Amino acid sequence: MQVKFTQYLILNTLTMQYDVIVIGSGPGGYVSAIRSAQLGLKTAIIEKYNVLGGTCLNVGCIPSKALLDSSEHFYNAAHTFAEHGIEIPAPVVNMTQMINRKSGVVKKMNDGITFLMKKNKITTYIGLGSFVDKNTVKVSKADGTSEDITAKNIIIATGSKPTVLPFMPVDKKRIITSTEALNLPAVPKTMVVVGAGVIGAELGSVYARLGTKVSFVEFADSMIPTMDKSMGKELQKAIKKLGVDYYFSHKVTNIVNNGDDATVTATNSKGEEVKLTGEYVLVCIGRRPYTEGLNLEAVGINMDRGKVVVDEHTLQTNVPNIYAIGDLIRGAMLAHKAEEEGVFVAETIAGQKPHINYNLIPGVVYTWPEVASVGKTEEELKTAGVAYKSGSFPFKALGRATASMDTDGLVKVLADKTTDEILGVHIIGARAADMIAEAVVAMEYRASAEDVARMSHAHPTYTEAMKEACLAATENRALHA
Ligand code: FAD
Ligand code: NAI
Repeated sequence: MQVKFTQYLILNTLTMQYDVIVIGSGPGGYVSAIRSAQLGLKTAIIEKYNVLGGTCLNVGCIPSKALLDSSEHFYNAAHTFAEHGIEIPAPVVNMTQMINRKSGVVKKMNDGITFLMKKNKITTYIGLGSFVDKNTVKVSKADGTSEDITAKNIIIATGSKPTVLPFMPVDKKRIITSTEALNLPAVPKTMVVVGAGVIGAELGSVYARLGTKVSFVEFADSMIPTMDKSMGKELQKAIKKLGVDYYFSHKVTNIVNNGDDATVTATNSKGEEVKLTGEYVLVCIGRRPYTEGLNLEAVGINMDRGKVVVDEHTLQTNVPNIYAIGDLIRGAMLAHKAEEEGVFVAETIAGQKPHINYNLIPGVVYTWPEVASVGKTEEELKTAGVAYKSGSFPFKALGRATASMDTDGLVKVLADKTTDEILGVHIIGARAADMIAEAVVAMEYRASAEDVARMSHAHPTYTEAMKEACLAATENRALHA
């Protein structure tokens, strides 16, 4: 009997079509497929939409950054060109063109991923993937047909969708999520943004720069409340210049579509009720893991509050040949975190022993000024009882920032009080998104603040603020402050 079972298993393994099937083509899924193929594994990817790239490429990172850039050009043309000595007639927004350019960027990247799948000999299936058993996935196609495909290993990378609550009835007309906010037909006169987290800050900035009167309603007492407190405070000051209103410590309890606009009801900490009406209400109160249609019950995958539970060391689910990555599992909902996990799982399947340092996954908010963070916040160090020292340096003391009129912001470096090892870096300012890479490298190699302070930083650059903040942290001896 034992021999027969073993024979069955060997036969079954031999007849599998693929070594790896990836379900979902976001940054987690498609990167995992590429790495699997690079490692010689026969790989297929399934995507339910007819374009690849997932949330990040189609309705997330890329289109939002395209609109952030366009709106920043508009804002500068209207508000800063004159001071630079460039005189132009008052600029006018052509929303159709702005959205078309954004869609063109997305299309170019979609084509790029399709090319990468072909180049790496990855078979793409367009259709909804659902489990039949632990080695078989049914692909249900738009034309009503379906096909079962088999693999030794399956990677679930189906991502996330916006969180919606019963008293915030998103109707995609007046009460919208980030997806609709990336395709508005015209610049609205007014917009109420519910949630001043990452999406609220970014898309709220886009419309505020284009001339919309934006009101933020936020449950916490500041913007981007999960980042180091000093970042939220600085960001609020900078975004306030766009003429926005803030309603912090306000909990939204109801939203109603009135036809031509929508009204938000919120209650503040004293129990007082506030009503705010906008042409659109943008609901961005977080995202939830997306597992609908996967038929996870067929294989008995363990879940915890909507997330797929994975082994910390392998990212395997409780069914050993099935892995899960990205927004679907615990941790930050970030494209580069999903990508790291995609590579990690492919290498694990190939028998390697990869590692991810979750503490060093940076977080970036692409407002202007940008906000970027890595490692521990000051609040986290206090809670953990770690003795630390802090050094800051303001952008306004930098020659480069003054030359380009981007003087809002600062770099804050947190280092261990005894060893001087850098524990956290928090930057708000021009090009913070790119500057944070230096902090990630330094922390990966466990540099001290003095190590970074003693390295030459080109002059004049924004990165000099990093060197100066490290000098301030290590011995309180910044040179230009
Ligand atoms: P996803 O990108 O969500 O991809 C999952 C894919 O699986 C989707 O294409 C979906 O259609 C497919 N799928 C789902 N179920 C099935 C099924 N049963 N069968 C077949 N296919 C299926 N992160 C950053 O790091 N930087 C940013 O600047 C940034 N900006 C953002 C801006 C916005 C407006 C939003 C909404 C998000 C942003 N994010 C950003 C977050 C980022 O988009 C996500 O963290 C990332 O996309 C997660 O990748 P993923 O591979 O886990 O899932
Ligand atoms: P978020 O978690 O960043 O912010 C949601 C905000 O809504 C929080 O500040 C919360 O306090 C508030 N909120 C919740 N319920 C509320 C209520 N009833 N009334 C008022 N306020 C309420 O989530 P967000 O902005 O929706 O983004 C989702 C995810 O997408 C994030 O996890 C983020 O990582 C990712 N993302 C990343 C980006 C980047 O890396 N640049 C850009 C955009 C999104």
